[in-house]
Amino acid sequence: MATQEKTVSTSSDDSKGNGAPPLVKRRGLEGVVALDSELSDIDGQKGQLLYRGYDIRDLAENTTFEEVAHLLWKGHLPTRAELDALHEQLQAERALPATTLEMLKQVPDDANPMAVLRTIVSALAFVDDEADEMSPEANYRKALRIASRMPTILAAYDRLRKGQDPMAPLANVSTAYDFLYMLNGEEPGEAAERTFDACLVLHAEHGLNASTFTGRVIGSTLSDMYSAIPGAIGALKGPLHGGANIEVRKMLMEIDASGQSPAAYVKQKLANKERVMGFGHRVYKVLDPRATILSDMLEELSREKGEMQWYDISHEIMETMEAEKGLAANVDFFSASIYHMLGIDIDLYTPIFALSRVTGWTAHLLEQWSDNRLIRPRAEYVGPRNLTATPIDER
Ligand code: ACO
Repeated sequence: MATQEKTVSTSSDDSKGNGAPPLVKRRGLEGVVALDSELSDIDGQKGQLLYRGYDIRDLAENTTFEEVAHLLWKGHLPTRAELDALHEQLQAERALPATTLEMLKQVPDDANPMAVLRTIVSALAFVDDEADEMSPEANYRKALRIASRMPTILAAYDRLRKGQDPMAPLANVSTAYDFLYMLNGEEPGEAAERTFDACLVLHAEHGLNASTFTGRVIGSTLSDMYSAIPGAIGALKGPLHGGANIEVRKMLMEIDASGQSPAAYVKQKLANKERVMGFGHRVYKVLDPRATILSDMLEELSREKGEMQWYDISHEIMETMEAEKGLAANVDFFSASIYHMLGIDIDLYTPIFALSRVTGWTAHLLEQWSDNRLIRPRAEYVGPRNLTATPIDER
């Protein structure tokens, strides 16, 4: 495993006793604390996650996505009046500018929806007069604007690629309700809204994960939000991070189609030295608390629909992974089946993660800019030295 720590010396002056700290190498930055944050705390041994001091289960059971967004952006859970004001601000920003919609119409029908989000969010800078305005007030307004428009972009793209007209956002409804409405062209039931809203709550924030770190690195150069958020979306897309939820669904379908038992399938994968997606985590050494909550939600949804198949397969995989490898499920393992049960297309799973995590990303950017220092680690040079360049015609 890549946990070894090593003190590194380089040929440069700053490691040679001139007062600069010694260079320490940790592959993948494992265990490195790069900055202070008030946004969330993960206890990887206990399996606990707090957003600004509140336990994730408490938030999932007792608050909505908009309340959590307020908590992350403003530092406290909103009063009724503050929540009403936030709803109004989010709704006012939700519709897409005409040029953005035109741009979406040019996107090929077979594009990866994460690439669509990444590109169109970046292009929102063209229609924002405040794009390069770096005051805290302007940056907060941009956080709201980007978070409001991402669900509209994703739903509009999904409809366009299916030959349908995009739906205009509704007034006076939650993000969860509006997204499901704009996606399906019909008002969602109460259970679907509640389940989807809880998924948004659970995915909103998670410390210095790869995508948030990416966003903060970009922000730390004092670049703008329309540069940092597409970078974070790009990092989330990878199958070792948010992209894992799509891989989980593919695995469940493969098991179902193969007729193999889930346990046999998993053992075969491990024997082939392949990774089982939705398992393992850099920080959690026990079950991810979000996976526990999502498992409960999947059980309820499966019972309501009288379709226990995906829940049962998932739990057999979990037991086998625990027994064979001592690895527990992460957030992506159960979200995949919940999105499937809600009738959502598989390639939208990771973009949905982004619709939620954008609140955490933007909150981290606001925090970064409130006390900025450039984030800039080092690499240990392991290549050759003392080479001389021969002129091109003599090589
Ligand atoms: N399946 C099988 N083996 C695994 C898995 C897995 N999912 N995860 C880790 N391992 C094994 C590795 O093979 C390695 O074993 P070894 O020491 O015998 O070589 C050991 O556990 C440590 O693995 P690392 O890759 O060093 O752990 P790291 O902390 O770097 O990786 C990661 C964490 C990337 C999440 C990893 O567990 C993984 O690839 N999981 C599958 C992808 C996934 O579900 N990603 C979503 C994470 S949650 C999120 O980002 C939202």
